[in-house]
Amino acid sequence: MEVIVVERPEDAAPIVADAYSRLLAAKPDAVLGLATGSTPLGVYDELVRRYEAGELTFASARAFLLDEYVGLPADHPERYRAFIERVFTGRVDLRPDAVQGPDGLAEDLSAAGVAYDAAIREAGGIDLQILGIGADGHLAFNMPMSSLTGRTRLKTLTPKTRLDNARFFDDDLDQVPRHCLTQGLGTIMESRHAVMLGFGLNKAQAVRECVEGAVSARWPASVLQLHPHATVVVDAEAASQLTFREYYRTTYDGKPDWQGI
Ligand code: GLP
Repeated sequence: MEVIVVERPEDAAPIVADAYSRLLAAKPDAVLGLATGSTPLGVYDELVRRYEAGELTFASARAFLLDEYVGLPADHPERYRAFIERVFTGRVDLRPDAVQGPDGLAEDLSAAGVAYDAAIREAGGIDLQILGIGADGHLAFNMPMSSLTGRTRLKTLTPKTRLDNARFFDDDLDQVPRHCLTQGLGTIMESRHAVMLGFGLNKAQAVRECVEGAVSARWPASVLQLHPHATVVVDAEAASQLTFREYYRTTYDGKPDWQGI
């Protein structure tokens, strides 16, 4: 696991965007794993900027979302499929039919989870998976005590997550879905490169536990310690509880530019 400590969240965007630029230059039809939440927005903005500047094209790429609410109508603005289109995929030249998310409107949700994992496999697997981290260490909607080897499946949202997300539903808890389909930690672990971002003091404990603590379902993102190519990019606040933060800084500062992340 490579840990990169930057000063501010905006310093992370070019570092992560460089990973996309390198990947797409080498493999224009790369498969991208996309995350919702506020954390990756700076990276998406930087990718859009590079696309508009003619530095990057996604024309042959494909993308898979991490998760989706169950039961929100197809035209609901808070569906993750709609969210990602607003903040990223609709702003670059990714073909709309090249972007997929778990089908939260499927009649058979278990079958939809299995089909989603199969679709990722058929696309050749995810080359670059971007991830945020929850304050309790969750990845996608894999909350504490989720299986470390789970696949895409139906999950019940915790009261805390529903409360946190009520701000996107007119602060009306009744409007917040109770269930979701989420890639499992096992699915996420099959990505070839996993890049997890964490910003702000409220992520500091989760970052400490997941990066330097024991691998445990108690802190789901700790599973990334077992990933052969995981990169964690955190700002100074989120890194504030890391014992080895100076070591991470020195190591990254001494890395040759051509190596990338
Ligand atoms: C949700 C998403 C996660 C995301 C998390 C943190 O639960 N399903 O993928 O990482 O929120 O959100 P934020 O990035 O807004 O802090």
